[in-house]
Amino acid sequence: MPMSIPRHIAIIMDGNGRWAKARGLPRTAGHKAGVETLRETIRAAGKMGIPFMTLFAFSSENWSRPRSEVSDLMGLLKLFIRRDLADLHRENVRVRIIGEREGLGKDIRALLTEAETLTDANTGLTLVIAFNYGSRNEIARAVQRLVADVSAGVLAADAVTPEAITARLDTAGIPDPDVIIRTSGEMRLSNFLLWQAAYSEFVFLPCYWPDFRPSNLAEAIETFQMRERRFGGVTAQDIAL
Ligand code: FPP
Repeated sequence: MPMSIPRHIAIIMDGNGRWAKARGLPRTAGHKAGVETLRETIRAAGKMGIPFMTLFAFSSENWSRPRSEVSDLMGLLKLFIRRDLADLHRENVRVRIIGEREGLGKDIRALLTEAETLTDANTGLTLVIAFNYGSRNEIARAVQRLVADVSAGVLAADAVTPEAITARLDTAGIPDPDVIIRTSGEMRLSNFLLWQAAYSEFVFLPCYWPDFRPSNLAEAIETFQMRERRFGGVTAQDIAL
């Protein structure tokens, strides 16, 4: 059987702060180094022919960090889009943003829309940036849309199926992640893609995000390929036993 490339890889880029601390640097230096890794990872994913990659860049819980760190992260996103959008477009990358737009500055919202609009027709890697994203918030917003549709009589109450929910999430049209990678040794999902992760394979890596290299991505893909996915069923081998 040919080895399959995962259709969708999602990454929780964790450990920027600890990476910086280990070097006696401010946390911002870790985030800056993290952006470099992000660039390299996007390029590698494109070359490997991965169709979808989601990166968790700012969680709805990150607002509780010191104000200066929050504004650093906002600044890095702005800088990333301003500097890299043309390159991404040239490399045929399609950008999608998931997360709550409300509560973000006007300038950031405009940049996010610009990135999506400019690259909408591209056919290479779909890069999904989770920004001001929290899974429970995403699900709650999807339920609000469902309730509105039911109240308006567009949707019957018994038509509220998993598919109807999936179609109203920010990730509508994006396949569920096959693999979720988290760096820095933490082993939890932290409110990331809770609904979409129902059958994802998890790969936890000890390295901090700034130390993550394309070779780690390749290894995570190999790990995924070696695991047997059963989606709640049994394999032919199980039946033969
Ligand atoms: C976790 O490190 C990382 C984040 C808070 C988000 C990831 C952000 C980047 C890679 C840089 C920003 C990029 C864009 C495009 C905005 P941490 O601070 O939680 O590390 P720690 O757990 O060691 O403190």
